[in-house]
Amino acid sequence: MELHGKKVLVTGADGFIGSHLTEMLVEEKADVRALCVYNSFNSWGWLDTSPIRDEIDIWTGDVRDPHFCKTITQDIEVVFHLAALIAIPYSYVAPDSYVDTNIKGTLNICQAAKENG
Ligand SMILES: NC(=O)c1ccc[n+]([C@@H]2O[C@H](COP(=O)([O-])OP(=O)(O)OC[C@H]3O[C@@H](n4cnc5c(N)ncnc54)[C@H](O)[C@@H]3O)[C@@H](O)[C@H]2O)c1
Repeated sequence: MELHGKKVLVTGADGFIGSHLTEMLVEEKADVRALCVYNSFNSWGWLDTSPIRDEIDIWTGDVRDPHFCKTITQDIEVVFHLAALIAIPYSYVAPDSYVDTNIKGTLNICQAAKENG
């Protein structure tokens, strides 16, 4: 897929895969909107130390919020959805949060992308 000049959203851009994908997209000259999960430390995870952090449009928010998903997918042509809870041991401790993030969050992003065309 040709991504040069495309408006691309990466969710989970603060994570391991999302941050490296974001760096690759900047190399490909895509116009990247990067979603990092909101936290009170104002940390952008892996993007904190990335050399491309000033070349992307960083948003903070949460894929569990359908209204936020509708906003962040506006004017976007391509979505890479990497936001997720991945730690298997913690999924046994707090399973509802995994359903909310991985299942409901994915549904929110898909519905928002569809509604925004
Ligand atoms: N790392 C691997 O080797 C690997 C292999 C295959 C598939 N995957 C999949 O790729 C995806 C990303 O994996 P990763 O290794 O980058 O994980 P990661 O934990 O490093 O990144 C996930 C990011 O999602 C963000 N996030 C969590 N909840 C959120 C929410 N409610 N709203 C917005 N953002 C939220 C976190 O802040 C985190 O930075 C996952 O679906 C994972 O299963 C990873």
